[in-house]
Amino acid sequence: MTETLPGAAIPNPTDEAAITAAVDQAIAAIAGAGSLDELKAVRLAHTGEKSPLSLANREIGGLPKDQKAVAGKLMGSSRGRVNKALADRTAELEAQNDARILLEETVDVTAAPRRRRAGARHPLSTLQDRVADIFVGMGWEIAEGPEVESEWFNFDALNFKPDHPAREMQDTFFVEPPEAHLLMRTHTSPVQVRSMLEREAPIYVLCPGKVFRTDELDATHTPVFHQFEGLAIDKHLSMADLRGTLEHFARQMFGDEAQIRLRPNYFPFTEPSAELDIWHPGAKGGPRWIEWGGCGMVNPNVLRAAGIDPDIYSGFAFGMGIERTLMFRNEVGDMRDMIEGDVRFSEHFGMEI
Ligand code: PHE
Repeated sequence: MTETLPGAAIPNPTDEAAITAAVDQAIAAIAGAGSLDELKAVRLAHTGEKSPLSLANREIGGLPKDQKAVAGKLMGSSRGRVNKALADRTAELEAQNDARILLEETVDVTAAPRRRRAGARHPLSTLQDRVADIFVGMGWEIAEGPEVESEWFNFDALNFKPDHPAREMQDTFFVEPPEAHLLMRTHTSPVQVRSMLEREAPIYVLCPGKVFRTDELDATHTPVFHQFEGLAIDKHLSMADLRGTLEHFARQMFGDEAQIRLRPNYFPFTEPSAELDIWHPGAKGGPRWIEWGGCGMVNPNVLRAAGIDPDIYSGFAFGMGIERTLMFRNEVGDMRDMIEGDVRFSEHFGMEI
């Protein structure tokens, strides 16, 4: 015999009054369900396996043959009514639910938005991107190297003699312990050597990045600043190629009237070496020559240190400071403004400088 709900008598499937009473009870409970959760409980109680109607339905099997048809018909229509009531109520409650959600999640499209500041890219970043774009446009690659560098890459491989003043503690941040011979790179030139060791000639790379020197922060110095280094290694490169490249670069940066001038200078890693000046047509207070960076033909000792045969290849290199470029290109009078992180400083450069 099937289990029954405690205390519930199984109605006789041929007893129309009892079955109708069970149906009425079910329909009343369905109508009384105020939510889909409540309706779920009602569905279980009145149509579940242990509900009076299901139990009555099971009794049909044991009835004498002549009563089976009557009982089947009665039970079929009764359960049909209950199921229909359930389906109708479900639809009603779902519609109510949807209406409530629509109301609760209403967005007032006319409400005034809360404004969020968009921020701005730092002009040093946009300038660095612009420089990189000019060289990538000429087919050069971008190369990077570490900011904590070994003394060998920063000085020795670049032909600095052991007693060169730049190696002194007062100019360079050395990293403890001294035996590790690590330092914060003082220029981007060590990336020249790294690039030559990593790549096969011909090489055309631009290396932008941070550099470090033990300078006090003032209007024209900061202990952390940015440089970009250019390096070209190929057969038959001469000073004329260096000049042509720098002239093209200067015109891209400062307009077609920009001119460059090379003045003899000394760097251990280039020979001959030159100071690069730019004729800046848009300079504040009228066009004038401005010192921009260093350059020269890569010293054969540097080529050799990087495993390149100076009898086959020659190269040129140049290096400039990004902060300095921004200062005279955009008339920034005080370098400290560039590092304070005040968004109003960045904003007035717009998205392009
Ligand atoms: N590394 C030099 C500096 O920091 C600049 C430079 C780069 C000079 C390449 C010549 C060639 O001043």
